[in-house]
Amino acid sequence: MVAVSVNNLHKQFGRTQVLKGVDLHVPDGAFAVLVGPSGCGKSTLLRLLSGLETATSGEIRFGDRPVTSLAPRDRDIAMVFQSYALYPHLTVYENLAFGLRLRKEPRSIIDQRVCEVAEMLGLTPLLKRRPKALSGGQRQRVAMGRAIVRRPQVFLFDEPLSNLDAALRAQVRVEIRRRHEAMRTTSVYVTHDQVEAMTLADVMFVLNAGCVEQSGTPAEVYRHPATRFVAGFLGSPSMNFLAAHLEKRSNDTWEVVVDTQNSPPIRIVLEDYPTANLRDGLAIELGVRPHDMTLAPDPEIADLRLTAGLCELLGPEIQVHTQVAEQPFTLCLEAELNTRRGELLAVDIDHLHLFDAATGASLR
Ligand SMILES: Nc1ncnc2c1ncn2[C@@H]1O[C@H](COP(=O)(O)OP(=O)(O)OP(=O)(O)O)[C@@H](O)[C@H]1O
Ligand SMILES: [Mg+2]
Repeated sequence: MVAVSVNNLHKQFGRTQVLKGVDLHVPDGAFAVLVGPSGCGKSTLLRLLSGLETATSGEIRFGDRPVTSLAPRDRDIAMVFQSYALYPHLTVYENLAFGLRLRKEPRSIIDQRVCEVAEMLGLTPLLKRRPKALSGGQRQRVAMGRAIVRRPQVFLFDEPLSNLDAALRAQVRVEIRRRHEAMRTTSVYVTHDQVEAMTLADVMFVLNAGCVEQSGTPAEVYRHPATRFVAGFLGSPSMNFLAAHLEKRSNDTWEVVVDTQNSPPIRIVLEDYPTANLRDGLAIELGVRPHDMTLAPDPEIADLRLTAGLCELLGPEIQVHTQVAEQPFTLCLEAELNTRRGELLAVDIDHLHLFDAATGASLR
């Protein structure tokens, strides 16, 4: 096992800058997830780690070893892609053994490793089948097994679950995490699925347009998004954003004033928010997650008053779609409240986020 470090990595295709100075550090034995919207450079970064693509500039190290200019076979990595690319004419056993045979490992070692991995992934009863006689999930497990038997220093995954249906995706996701906890092989996993990112990662890197916007544990990044982009990208339903500005009161309290067109402005007094970065009159965006609001015990002093629009019952909660300050706004309330369209709601914001409107940076 090794740590993976990337230092000021750039990648250009012709004139297109795809990676613009990426830094990342994945500690030895950690499971890192690269997450971001389509086209932000996730696969490119992974291909640079694997050696399938060469960097324009910058450095990649596995432990103390610079690998930036090494060929893939000299990096001691194993990759799992979205397409399983199994050999159709070989059995599951032979698919699993293929890489080891290529490396001329003794037959007894091959047999032992293949059986061990097959057992771990529940493939033992399927060892004699060919890929076409397997389900999608089983094929994905064979692809994963083929990477595992090689016992690489680093695993690289590029959206390995995106061809599976939702139930299977959840199941294989749990398997991947369990296997990682047993083996602790340093892993870098690419996905645009935020549930996969949140559940699998020890450390998460949110990429946007070829740069790392924020890194940290999933809990840190979710609770304290550093930018408006990260705030809007993580969380489902997405965070609500309202254009607003800050006002400082004489007694040193701060108010968020939400700009409205047709009604008096909405004023929310800030409580428990660090004031170091606040400036009187600063144009901001107020961010509120749909799950961070509750019905106010005293409607007279509620943060927001709204009229429920479309209400969708999703088992344990109701998603209420409405508008605040002429902007679409969503909140999630407990199903027991039985909220109906047209109902007047007075809600308190339990946790809010403030972003500089000009830069998108969090004011926390
Ligand atoms: N070989 C190439 N030549 C030119 N441009 C490329 C090449 N490979 C990737 N790109 C461009 O680089 C950008 C990033 O691509 P990349 O495949 O890394 O995105 P991604 O984050 O993996 O997206 P997705 O989630 O859709 O897989 C895209 O704009 C893509 O068009
Ligand atoms: Mg990709």
